Amino acid sequence: MIHSPSSSASGRSATSRTTSRAKTSVLVSGIQPSGRLHIGNYLGALKNFVDLQRSGEYQCHFFIADLHSITEPFDLREKHRQITELSADYLAAGLDPKQSVLYVQSHIPAHSELMWILSTITPMGELQRMTQFKDKSVRQEENINAGLFTYPVLMAADILLYGARTVPVGDDQLQHLELTRTLARKFNAKFGETFIEPKGLLTKTPRVMSLKDPLKKMSKSQPEGCLFLDDEPEAIKAKIARAVTDSETTIAYDPEKRPGLANLLEIYAALTHLEPRAVAAEFDGESYAELKRKLAGLVAGYFAEFRAKKRTLLSAPSKVTAIFDKGSKKATKAAEAKIAEVKRRVGFSA
Ligand code: AMP
Ligand code: TRP
Repeated sequence: MIHSPSSSASGRSATSRTTSRAKTSVLVSGIQPSGRLHIGNYLGALKNFVDLQRSGEYQCHFFIADLHSITEPFDLREKHRQITELSADYLAAGLDPKQSVLYVQSHIPAHSELMWILSTITPMGELQRMTQFKDKSVRQEENINAGLFTYPVLMAADILLYGARTVPVGDDQLQHLELTRTLARKFNAKFGETFIEPKGLLTKTPRVMSLKDPLKKMSKSQPEGCLFLDDEPEAIKAKIARAVTDSETTIAYDPEKRPGLANLLEIYAALTHLEPRAVAAEFDGESYAELKRKLAGLVAGYFAEFRAKKRTLLSAPSKVTAIFDKGSKKATKAAEAKIAEVKRRVGFSA
């Protein structure tokens, strides 16, 4: 796994490099459309998507992982809305169809086709070890479906299909990436060199913790602990004011002993490009209430443009959908060429 080089991965100035050099290294990532994005999704993944796109170093592919999202209970009409909403989130955050291929996973049959082929070389034991599968099996006891189990194989297909070297994700996805590498190796050994082994790319905040329970990661399954990207300033203020900290009075960065406070300092640091310790030093002598008040102001201001853009985009949803439909056509071309190669390798005529 490699870490995001923060200098090259930030700032708009790098955009100019896009035109001067061919972007050969492919980067792929996706997010499930299953509700509003929270600041963990943003600082662990989406912010990095935008920074990496702007760096001009990669041929970027970002998609909506809708096939993955139906492994959890869902409502038909809601799903359609969630796909459009996540599409708007991508665009409002700064993903740009002129610089990245933006698409919807279910529009491209090759993802599911490759998944099937990969599933035949996937050991059951590897899937049984997956932390996410184990966690979700407890959380949705009444719906432990086979898709939940084979979820990482589809994720491997999403990545290998486009020859990605780099996959920016939060740290909860690293185990799935390890499996992806294993499957690439196994396939290549059995059928000949076909796939590239990808590497994960983490941000400095690969695991944002819940505001309610700083020992658990921030997660949509516990909305009380989430700061959503489109929360209004009042909600942001109220949630941060209620964030769990500790009974000490001084401000210091100590993730082990004071995880709640450390989480707030990390969020502050990520949005200001500072180190958490430097943020703690800045607040030396101030109260928790003051830190929380300033953090709430920072978050509300940081996402003001995002909120406005998202609102505008969602006022014309068909335009948003059209952007992703066009991207899906582009992605289909690359995906079909690769799946044809894979089929030839396994002995099917394609
Ligand atoms: P999901 O919504 O589960 O599809 O997650 C989308 C992306 O956000 C993935 O790359 C996750 O690893 C990342 N992510 C989810 N929760 C967090 C969190 N609490 N902290 C950092 N990254 C996260
Ligand atoms: N499993 C990822 C998540 O829950 C989403 C995802 C699906 C993904 N396919 C992917 C991420 C391929 C990166 C690359 O966040």
